[in-house]
Amino acid sequence: MQIHTLKDIDSVAKAVAEALILCVSNTLQQRDYFSIVLSGGSTPKKLYELLATEEYKNKIDWNKLYIFWGDERFVPFNNERNNAKMAFDTLLNHVPVNREQVYIMQTGNITPEDSTKEYNNLVNHYLENKGVFDFVLLGMGDDGHTLSLFPGNEETIFEEKNQCISLWLPAQNMHRITLTYPPVNNAREIVFMVTGDNKSKVLKQVLQGDYNPLKYPSQIIKPGNGELHWFIDEDAASLLK
Ligand code: 6PG
Repeated sequence: MQIHTLKDIDSVAKAVAEALILCVSNTLQQRDYFSIVLSGGSTPKKLYELLATEEYKNKIDWNKLYIFWGDERFVPFNNERNNAKMAFDTLLNHVPVNREQVYIMQTGNITPEDSTKEYNNLVNHYLENKGVFDFVLLGMGDDGHTLSLFPGNEETIFEEKNQCISLWLPAQNMHRITLTYPPVNNAREIVFMVTGDNKSKVLKQVLQGDYNPLKYPSQIIKPGNGELHWFIDEDAASLLK
């Protein structure tokens, strides 16, 4: 595991953009496809906006990418809380992705159960034919959750039969769809982006406290053969030894 502490969120976004560009270009020298799992929430917005700028957008062969999401709030695509909408608004509408290779978690005219089944099949099909995910981008909540694996939710945190599950999140009065830990832990490169002093307490627990993924679900993320990188800013890192 490598921890990269940068000054602020802009520096974190720049560092992650460069790590992604390097990973994509190295991989596309060996084969003609690359898979990335995008995160939702607010932290990655700066990264997505940066990747869409003139300076960065031509550094990635977008039409070779297969794009997935780590989790989704079960709200319509045009709802501001929808993770896929955020990624399209900030990045995917501005770069030449192949829409046939962009797999959103469906949230319209479908039940959470059916959407989960569909996504499970999509992920299984990709992994069986193309192999593990190349790059998984994750965020972490100030309660230590990642993806939609929330503290105390034993069933979702330790699920390993399915690649994707749905859950009811009472605190937000909504369903969520989320990848489970296995397809993430099998990935080649896993990158957490965590910024802000509101994350400093939980980050200290996650990185330097006892292993307790039921309480701190981000701890369930441990790569098998791949690499795990934490890109954090000084505020989030302020309590680390
Ligand atoms: C989501 C995310 C979630 C996110 C964390 C951090 O749907 O909310 O996928 O896991 O990464 O909640 O969110 P922020 O980046 O907004 O702090």
